Amino acid sequence: MGNPEGRRTGLLDGRTALVTGAGTGIGRATALMLAEEGATVVLVGRRPHLLAEVAAVVEGAGGRAVVHPAHVDKADDVRELVERTREVAGPVDILVNNAGGAGHEGDVRRLGEDEWNAVLGVNLTGVYLLTRAVLPDMVERGGGSIITISSLAAIRPTSLGGAPYGAAKAGVRSFMTYLRNTFGDDLVRATCILPGEVDTPVLDSRPQPPSEERRAAMVRPKDVARAVLLCATLPPRTVVEELVIAPTSSGWSGGRPAPGPRRPS
Ligand SMILES: NC(=O)c1ccc[n+]([C@@H]2O[C@H](COP(=O)([O-])OP(=O)(O)OC[C@H]3O[C@@H](n4cnc5c(N)ncnc54)[C@H](OP(=O)(O)O)[C@@H]3O)[C@@H](O)[C@H]2O)c1
Repeated sequence: MGNPEGRRTGLLDGRTALVTGAGTGIGRATALMLAEEGATVVLVGRRPHLLAEVAAVVEGAGGRAVVHPAHVDKADDVRELVERTREVAGPVDILVNNAGGAGHEGDVRRLGEDEWNAVLGVNLTGVYLLTRAVLPDMVERGGGSIITISSLAAIRPTSLGGAPYGAAKAGVRSFMTYLRNTFGDDLVRATCILPGEVDTPVLDSRPQPPSEERRAAMVRPKDVARAVLLCATLPPRTVVEELVIAPTSSGWSGGRPAPGPRRPS
């Protein structure tokens, strides 16, 4: 269906979506998909050139993007980010808490406080700071969506992601439940998405990056973006509370029993 400007009508026309970690991976794919559906996307991350590249793609396709570099774990940055967003794009309708990442130390016996605090900072404190900043407008305006990218590490933490990563991802899962139980009647929808392995640049920083074959079997950033889009576009009466999204193939042959003689029926 077309509008007077000849652009098709999108599911998120007139909405403002703030996406953190929007310069790469899942955040980039999500920002592009929300913009394609008509949302004005506010692109947040620390590296401005990556955000500018995403904005160029959005604008090239006829969408609207605002670039705002910020550290999500710094309270002053977040305050300024949300104030400026209100000025240039209006109050936030959809917050996608996506910025995050694991540390380097998998053995808690060697883990320093700096790394513990940094990992909790981006994955947990950042989600609190952003949520606190957008909630008053959402409550006043009769609702909104807060969608947080947690991880399966929230349930099954391992040395690969490390202790603070699992703890932070479990923390945001709990925080989203708190939001639903506290602000559900205000039609604020809080969703926790728990991805398994997704083929993004973050995998390059693993001590042993996965093979091309293994990466090919993983979830893609645009698959997670579609999950975010679903959560953001259902009618306000309905919330996707949690969504686990994982590779179909486990990547190991133990999933299925070896062929053997058929059992008599
Ligand atoms: N890939 C997976 O297998 C997987 C699985 C489960 C969950 N996740 C989660 O998915 C989310 C996205 O990760 P990804 O896989 O797409 O990896 P990614 O490409 O490394 O994305 C992480 C993004 O977060 C931004 N960021 C990091 N620290 C920040 C800070 N302090 N302030 C603002 N932005 C910051 C980074 O940009 P700058 O460096 O420019 O700031 C980057 O764009 C993360 O929360 C991750 O934990 C990923």
